[in-house]
Amino acid sequence: MSVSSSGSTTLSGSTGAASAGRGLWSSRLAFVLAATGSAVGLGNIWKFPYITGENGGGAFVLMYLVCIAVVGIPIMMAEVMIGRRGGRSPVNSLRAIARKDGLKPAWMLVGAIGILAGFLILSFYSVIGGWAISYIGTAASGQLAGQSADAIGGLFSGLLASPGTLLLWHTVFMVLVMVVVAKGVKAGLERAVTILMPALFVLLLIMVGYAMNSGAFARGAAFLFQPDFSKLSTTGLLVALGHAFFTLSLGMAVMMAYGSYLPKGVSIARTSITVSIIDTVVALLAGLAIFPVVFANGLEPGAGPGLIFQTLPLAFGQMPGGSFFGTLFFVLLLFAAWTSGISLLEPIVEWLEERKGMNRTLSTVISGTVCWLLGIASILSLNLWSDVTPMSFIPALEGKTIFDLLDFLTANILLPLGGLAVAVFAGWVMSKPALEAEMAMSSSAFRLWFVTVRYVTPVAVAAVFLYNLV
Ligand code: PFF
Repeated sequence: MSVSSSGSTTLSGSTGAASAGRGLWSSRLAFVLAATGSAVGLGNIWKFPYITGENGGGAFVLMYLVCIAVVGIPIMMAEVMIGRRGGRSPVNSLRAIARKDGLKPAWMLVGAIGILAGFLILSFYSVIGGWAISYIGTAASGQLAGQSADAIGGLFSGLLASPGTLLLWHTVFMVLVMVVVAKGVKAGLERAVTILMPALFVLLLIMVGYAMNSGAFARGAAFLFQPDFSKLSTTGLLVALGHAFFTLSLGMAVMMAYGSYLPKGVSIARTSITVSIIDTVVALLAGLAIFPVVFANGLEPGAGPGLIFQTLPLAFGQMPGGSFFGTLFFVLLLFAAWTSGISLLEPIVEWLEERKGMNRTLSTVISGTVCWLLGIASILSLNLWSDVTPMSFIPALEGKTIFDLLDFLTANILLPLGGLAVAVFAGWVMSKPALEAEMAMSSSAFRLWFVTVRYVTPVAVAAVFLYNLV
């Protein structure tokens, strides 16, 4: 373990208490940075605003915040705890704990579901990451300057209508992810996140500053923060819950994988809460930057996945230095997506290495390529296959394209199910002394977490599911 003299942290291959022969994060900060790199991504800046727009605003935001507090944070703590206790890749951590505590290895299925979810998510995540890359060029070449809302909308629909362009950028994004994963995630990731996350934050503040002067700031803020429950549907509730998992990178073993590198003695609770707060603040800032622009320009808050690609470019087109800020913004969005994409691929690569004895490069190439191939289905569903809706025989999935289905099934079904399983594993299956030892909290704080994970989280997730079935 080493902290270099420049103050930057690196991960060495030394033997740690949690796992023989594997490196540990060099500090709590390094873990926070890596976990934040995973959590803060397209989910915060692309997805949060558009699902808020689609689900009526304030009431949805409130439900989302409740889900973060009641479900997200306790599950993040549980995942990090399982990872650190097991000290291996997620599947094997679960198996190791299960063995140690005399439990059924079937629990490793929890990790396996997670790996599958990560795989499916990355396939379409990479397509959206590709949109960000494409917009770097659009902004840098000055194409946004002075454009009308219609012209900007036209640019976006032009992109979606072109499978070749989408494929090109999807490929570039996936290669970027694979290169880092193949090299080994830790060293580069820590450094990148240290610089890029604060930069993204500052840029979002600048955007909020612009939005404050756009003439509709009060309306945008009211849309976000004044709940109108008549606009919240039961599907909205499910989407809020699913998004709490998606945005915090939960339910698919990423935090377990990262937790396995966390040194003993670092507070799991403090660390998880820090990451969750940063993630939430970034999402809310994105909302505050976007909705005033939406209202000031008579745009539609429920415009769907294209929302930020139609609103922010409009702001960039009008503000002084907009081409520069626009380029910078999409570069940072790409980096946020990149660090998340890396964390989506990492668990499966780690598992292939450990389980199948494949070397890192080969396991990265195989899993990345399969994921890339799957991404092509999402690309086509934006244009040539836009009326292919294979699950329309199920009412809740009616009219959903392959892209919509992958998003819906992963975020709203698989991740909450994975999270539910983690909560049950931590709250009902693991031995209490093991939990207490690993969490190392005051007894009242431990009790609060334990009761939440054992009762509140499973009931909340199950209730939202059932609510949507009836
Ligand atoms: N949390 C990421 C985002 O908000 O963009 C997406 C994500 C990354 C989801 C890793 C799940 C995950 F395991």
